[in-house]
Amino acid sequence: MKIDGTPYRTIWQDAGGVVQVIDQRWLPHEFRVVPLRTRAEFATAIRDMWVRGAPLIGATAAWGVAVQMAVDASDASLAETWEVLHDTRPTAINLRWALDEMRRVLSPLPPAMRATAAARRAAEICDEDVEINRQIGLHGLEIIKAIAARKSGPVNILTHCNAGWLATVDWGTATSPIYHADAAGIPVHVFVDETRPRNQGAQLTAWELNSHGISHDLIVDNAGGHLMQHGEVDMVIVGTDRTTARGDVCNKIGTYLKALAARANGVPFYVALPSPTIDWRVHDGVREIPIEERNGAEVTLVQGRTKDGRIESVQISPDGTGARNPAFDVTPAELVTGLLTERGLCPATEAGMAAMFPDLKAAV
Ligand code: MRU
Repeated sequence: MKIDGTPYRTIWQDAGGVVQVIDQRWLPHEFRVVPLRTRAEFATAIRDMWVRGAPLIGATAAWGVAVQMAVDASDASLAETWEVLHDTRPTAINLRWALDEMRRVLSPLPPAMRATAAARRAAEICDEDVEINRQIGLHGLEIIKAIAARKSGPVNILTHCNAGWLATVDWGTATSPIYHADAAGIPVHVFVDETRPRNQGAQLTAWELNSHGISHDLIVDNAGGHLMQHGEVDMVIVGTDRTTARGDVCNKIGTYLKALAARANGVPFYVALPSPTIDWRVHDGVREIPIEERNGAEVTLVQGRTKDGRIESVQISPDGTGARNPAFDVTPAELVTGLLTERGLCPATEAGMAAMFPDLKAAV
């Protein structure tokens, strides 16, 4: 996507071969690009959320393997790199998917050929992510078009967290249909959940939509149900960090409550699902998906910019108050109207997913 007229992806290799990423910790206040040069820096960037969002975590891990292969392409290094990068964040399955994919390509090769092959595959994974998200956007556009045809005024879309281009290599998953609708001249308005504790909605989704001139309002996490009760939301679209073989959807904490509110109010609830985010090995998302518990300081502190331009965290709770910080939750498949994949709209059922992706299911 373009920022001030310059096209950006969230991760790329510069002319000198160095991998660069947008350091998302400073948005929306500062747009910073940082190089990642070592395996340790890749691991830190994922663990500490310089980059985040399931598809981008996977793409970053793939480049982390490639960078390490240029240093040491031995079997031991490949195995250790898989472990080091895999240990960074537990929930988004794209991380494992990308690491497995790199290992599948590299393992059969002699070490002398691995560095070149790894860089090639990492670049391909990035390009594939862009195309997957473009396709999700085109399929989602049809849904938005159908809603627009039935009403006057903008199509009102609620989204949670950031499943935008910052969370992927480009386009985003949940935002891709929105960008495509905007480009097609369909008026859309987006309600952006702030998404405590890290505020990815307020800091990232709002920044994206603002940069691209898409009409939006930031809302507190608890406002969505009220807006749905009053007919102000036509559809919900969210992303996912891991979706099970039967269609249970793991996504940023608070997604489940939005799905319950949507069901209670007859609002369609769509999940934008790139196929690398499907975990075919698990079925019952509530019981089988590991949910990342992050530092309680993310709950007790809030980051913002002071009037004189400093980016700071302030404490919002008393000294001594503890905090729980589960970062994700699971929305059972029954609450999902449809899964918006790169191959089209798919029912959130075991049979629906198997029919949409017979090749991927068979390969497990
Ligand atoms: O903790 P984060 O910021 O990595 O969580 C991101 C999300 O939950 C996104 O909604 C999800 O990864 C889908 S991104 C296309």
